[in-house]
Amino acid sequence: MQVTLRVFRYNPEVDRRPHYQIFEVEAEETDLVLDLLNQVKWYQDGSLGFRRSCGHGICGSDAMRINGVNRLACKVLVREVGAKLTVEPLLGLRVLKDLIVDLEPFFESYRSLLPYLVNHDPLPSGERLQSPEQRARFDDTTKCILCACCTTSCPIFWGDEGYVGPAAIVQAHRFIYDSRDHAANARLQILSDKTGVFRCRTTFNCTEACPRGIEVTKAIQEVKRSILFDRF
Ligand code: FES
Repeated sequence: MQVTLRVFRYNPEVDRRPHYQIFEVEAEETDLVLDLLNQVKWYQDGSLGFRRSCGHGICGSDAMRINGVNRLACKVLVREVGAKLTVEPLLGLRVLKDLIVDLEPFFESYRSLLPYLVNHDPLPSGERLQSPEQRARFDDTTKCILCACCTTSCPIFWGDEGYVGPAAIVQAHRFIYDSRDHAANARLQILSDKTGVFRCRTTFNCTEACPRGIEVTKAIQEVKRSILFDRF
């Protein structure tokens, strides 16, 4: 089938403003949107800028807006979106070139929440054990691949770059409820700040956008409740 691909283009070094470019691409219904972009880059216009790596929904690098919805280009089949599609960069972050956005503010928020295990006990001789129930407590948020689909679908984040955003909260959640971790209080302290979880207005955009099916809004609500009611 013939697919008409409308692609956001912007090179701040030469363009005064963004524009859209149309590409006609021959594709199978079972091709991925990422395949279309690769076809354009390899055979029609090598200057097209977009990120991708694994091609299998694991690395999170090819998040973009496909027909207005945040998706991973490597997880969307042509038959899902039809013969005409528009591909644009994620919202709320500066465009570096075409479909590539500056993810540094996103990762800065992520790093601010201590996204690693903190444990002050003496080093054990073996693994730090936990029960299946303890592991299940944070299982959902271990699935995050840091693609930024959730954060850049959040209207609060669009209007306030200071808000840490859903992905950073998901990553904090993963450690706050880990029975082996000792830094829950520090993370909750950071998240109780004006740039933290209480900026969330429960729009559920983040949950709908997550390509891993994480219940992002639920995780955010759990963190809010811990700040208000739990003693760690
Ligand atoms: S290329 Fe890795 S998630 Fe799509």
